[in-house]
This record gives sequence, C-alpha cells and structure tokens, in this order.
Amino acid sequence: NFVYFLKGLNFIADRIKEKFGCEDVLITPGDSDVDETVKSLMGKEAASYLRSFLKNGDIVAVTGGTTMAQVPKGMPRLEGYEDVVVVAARGGLGEKVEIQANTIAAELAERLGARYRLLYVPDNLGPEAMESITSEPRIKEVLSLIKRADVVIHGIGRAEEMARRRGLDESVIKKILKNGAVAEAFGYYFDSEGRVVFTTTSAGLSVNDLKNVRKVISVAGGAKKAPAIRAFLKYHCPTALITDEGAARKLIELE
Ligand code: F6P
Repeated sequence: NFVYFLKGLNFIADRIKEKFGCEDVLITPGDSDVDETVKSLMGKEAASYLRSFLKNGDIVAVTGGTTMAQVPKGMPRLEGYEDVVVVAARGGLGEKVEIQANTIAAELAERLGARYRLLYVPDNLGPEAMESITSEPRIKEVLSLIKRADVVIHGIGRAEEMARRRGLDESVIKKILKNGAVAEAFGYYFDSEGRVVFTTTSAGLSVNDLKNVRKVISVAGGAKKAPAIRAFLKYHCPTALITDEGAARKLIELE
C-alpha cells in the first residue's frame, strides 16, 4: 500500500528477510511502544496471514501476551474451518486471563468457527507435580495435539520484563540476566546470539519442536523489543515475522 511504499517499509522488510532468512516479513506502520493501537494492526496482519494458508483440519497452537491477544480480534468470523483445532502452546503463566494462551485459543477458535482445547498446566511446578499432572490422560491428549501442531503463532518478549511478569524470584531473574538473556518466547530465555540460556518448567511446545512445524508466525513489535526479536530470529527463523515499523527500523540498525 501507499503508506508502506512512502515509508520505505518494503525495503526494510527485504533487508530483514535477507538477514534472518524468514520467508515473509510484514511491517505495520507505527510503533507499538508509543501507540497501543499498532498492536491491533499487527493482530490483523497476523490474522490475514493465517487465513492465506490455513487448511481445514490444521492444528493451530498459540501463545499469550498483549500482542497475541489482538490476533483473534483481528480475525473476521469465518466458516469452513470446523475441523481446525486451536490449542494453547504452553501452560498458563498466571497472567491476566485476557492475555493467557487458553483465552486466545478459545477466541481464535470462535472466530474461525473451529474447535479448541485448553491446556490446564500451571508454570513453574516442581518436577514431581509436573510429572504427575502431565501423565493425566486428558492433559496428555492435549499435549500430544500440541506436538502435532501444523501452525504456531507466538509472541516474543524482553527477558527481564517477562521474568518479572511471570513473578520469578529476584534471585532467578538475576541469574537469567547474568546469563545474558535478552529475549523470551515459549518460556525459553535467549541471549543476544539466540542461545537458550534458561527455561521455565512448563508443559507444551518446546522450541525444539519449531523446526517440524509447517508454519511459524512470530508476532512482536515496538522499538524496545528489537534486541529480543533479533535474538529469537537468530534462534529460529520463522515462516513469517509480523512486526511494526518501530521494531523493524531498530532491527536493521542493530545489524
Ligand atoms: O507470555 C506469553 C508470551 O507470548 C511470551 O512468550 C512473550 O514473551 C510475551 O507473551 C509477549 O507479550 P507482549 O505481547 O505482551 O509483549
């Protein structure tokens, strides 16, 4: 579109594609750090990208966060996806219910006229409790669905902010940051080279599984998040990065 052209966003998108090897990079004008409504533009963009390839029968796994919460909101009500299953990619985080993965999964399914399955596993359980909860047949079934996901749509956050949002102990936060963590996604913390430096105990999709997923869509923006986005892209290059102008401009500056 015209605004896109004027701002040179095509050029920036191509640079990011080349640098990280993502198939598609979509940039919405603006910066979500200074204007919250830019998140809803990213949500719409992610929703229409999903529609461009979604097949009836696909399993779609989603994570939480304020950016991801805009994805179902950006999806019109559709028909023909009754055999799609939407599922939370990871256990709950004790965050506000509106931005939890389970809520987003249910809302997205509702828009698509699809089915959804909820994952009731809290984060940061002790190993024994985790073992026992994940061997429950109903939970096991959802976990196996997640492992077979065809599509994953997820957020990326800044390490320190996410560690705090999750209520990790101050000593653990210190340790994570000392290890050089700058990014968080799926409960994994990454350093600026894209190495995993810390993992929270949670059930569900592991970042290792991403390479077997047909389409991975990363949705994250805001200039402040650029180092985090960069770190994640170094770990795994998604099929598509949906971001905003603030983050995208910073991303190419960091190179
Ligand atoms: O907590 C779920 C999650 O997707 C994290 O993995 C990610 O770091 C964060 O949300 C992003 O949240 P926001 O979009 O609110 O910055």
